[in-house]
Amino acid sequence: MARHLITSAIPYINGIKHLGNLVGSQLPADLYARYLRGRGHEVLFLCATDEHGTPAELAAAKAGKPVAEYCAEMHAVQARIADGFGLSFDHFGRSSSPQNRDLTQAFAGRLHEVGLIREVTEEQVYSKTDGRFLPDRYIEGTCPNCGFESARGDQCDNCTKQLDPTDLIEPHSTISGATDLEVRETKHLYLRQSDMRGKLQDWIDSKTDWPVLTTSIAKKWLNDGDGLQDRGITRDLDWGIPVRKGTQDWPGMEGKVFYVWFDAPIEYIASAQEWVDAGKGTDWERWWRTDKGAGDVRYTQFMGKDNVPFHTLSFPATIMGADQDWKLVDYIKSFNYLNYDGGQFSTSRGRGVFMDQALDILPADVWRWWLLSHAPETSDAEFTWEAFQQDVNKDLADVLGNFVSRVTKFCRSKFSEAVPEGGDYGEAETALIAELTDKVKTYEAHMDAIEVRKAAAALRSIWVAGNEYLQAQAPWTTIKEDPAKAEMQVRLGLNLIRLYGILSAPFIPTMSRTMLDAMGASDAAWPSDVAAALTALPPGHAFTVPENLFSKITDDQRAEWASRFAGVRG
Ligand code: 2FM
Ligand code: ZN
Repeated sequence: MARHLITSAIPYINGIKHLGNLVGSQLPADLYARYLRGRGHEVLFLCATDEHGTPAELAAAKAGKPVAEYCAEMHAVQARIADGFGLSFDHFGRSSSPQNRDLTQAFAGRLHEVGLIREVTEEQVYSKTDGRFLPDRYIEGTCPNCGFESARGDQCDNCTKQLDPTDLIEPHSTISGATDLEVRETKHLYLRQSDMRGKLQDWIDSKTDWPVLTTSIAKKWLNDGDGLQDRGITRDLDWGIPVRKGTQDWPGMEGKVFYVWFDAPIEYIASAQEWVDAGKGTDWERWWRTDKGAGDVRYTQFMGKDNVPFHTLSFPATIMGADQDWKLVDYIKSFNYLNYDGGQFSTSRGRGVFMDQALDILPADVWRWWLLSHAPETSDAEFTWEAFQQDVNKDLADVLGNFVSRVTKFCRSKFSEAVPEGGDYGEAETALIAELTDKVKTYEAHMDAIEVRKAAAALRSIWVAGNEYLQAQAPWTTIKEDPAKAEMQVRLGLNLIRLYGILSAPFIPTMSRTMLDAMGASDAAWPSDVAAALTALPPGHAFTVPENLFSKITDDQRAEWASRFAGVRG
């Protein structure tokens, strides 16, 4: 048994996330957390809302609410939806928490103490029309790196390059559209990331087992020469964590706040403190301080590819720079994008399916299964209603659901609602056990390696093997000549449903629960031995026939949803 710390990139507070956001971090993180817990490991799974910065300010202004009130409301909304999707966070924190404020200020003070922060008088974009300095996100223009026309002041969404607003070609204010921007003087703090280049390079080079997507993005920014420019970590904004040097004032920085990307990853740590302060845990340092027991923790982060530079360079620079035995990430699993029906999901245009809408039309497990089995790991992936309907109908209804329903209904009608007896397993069963033993090993290997799609394929093939067994052995035929043999076949089938309930739980926790409950399985321990697991339910053990695990998506539903989610969220 090992200890695993798992974090998912913390979603921005503004608005409800779409399915592309979900599959890029929270959902695979939950899959991994559930799997490791299932295998008996101690897991601390943390997430939070990312509440500072201009996206929050803009969204609150649009909603006509004070930003703190807006954030509190949206946090509750996001927490409820996360729960609806079965995201099993040990804590879902808030980057606006007092814990994160104190920790962020402490990190800044410490980084200053060790000489890694410099104060810079710099020029910043000021909009005369808007009467204010424009933070990065209020400025858009053409990316100097790739030519993308809607690059934001802090990052180009097209090529992921981290930008400064003054890098943009033909910039304009996104508040007013004004182009009468001018550059004025203001003072800011910079983290001397460039001093840490060698250390970061060695660290990334040592991560030979990381996904190529992660290391290629990290190396691109390290080797480009400009990826490790010193980063401004303060902003001229009202909403955010006030700039302080630990618990002391920071002369000259009055009225300024830390940059959202400085405080957001620190929330990974603060969320563990919040977890303790909420009475859900007792010792957060055991997870986060290598001098206080976190030396044997394995820390895995999940995120979309646009977040990779911040997690491979900026946040590690904070952690390493502080030089205080903070736990560094061990493995970064990153994802490409999921597209929607021939284009992109679009929050602003309401194009695609958002998390709340998804739960309104179908059970979470249906989404979980499809999204995870199509996770955008090696390339971008695409959601289409046709593929979705076809895949979930096949996998969850024709394969898994059908198996469960055939075995349980046959047993009830021919024998009783108790596991029948019928003698020892024979040749076909031994062969199936051998096949499943191999397949379970493959499944575990993919899950251990966080190869999400491959793990889904392995699980599906475990379901298929049961169906093929049932089809070939046909207890409904066997019963005519050899009723005892048919009983034995059904006994195996019922035990298989229990095994499926255990193995499938990381992907489809609710359906798994239904299967386990129907089988009256009080022990749902991960199988160390498939043969033994398939005798767990003894003859005479009572079971029930579960309600339809999943009803197929009809063509009419598909057509209706395709038009409903085509654009402009109502
Ligand atoms: O891209 C995003 O949604 C960011 N809010 C992720 C932040 S992850 C972290 F560093 F906190
Ligand atoms: Zn670009």
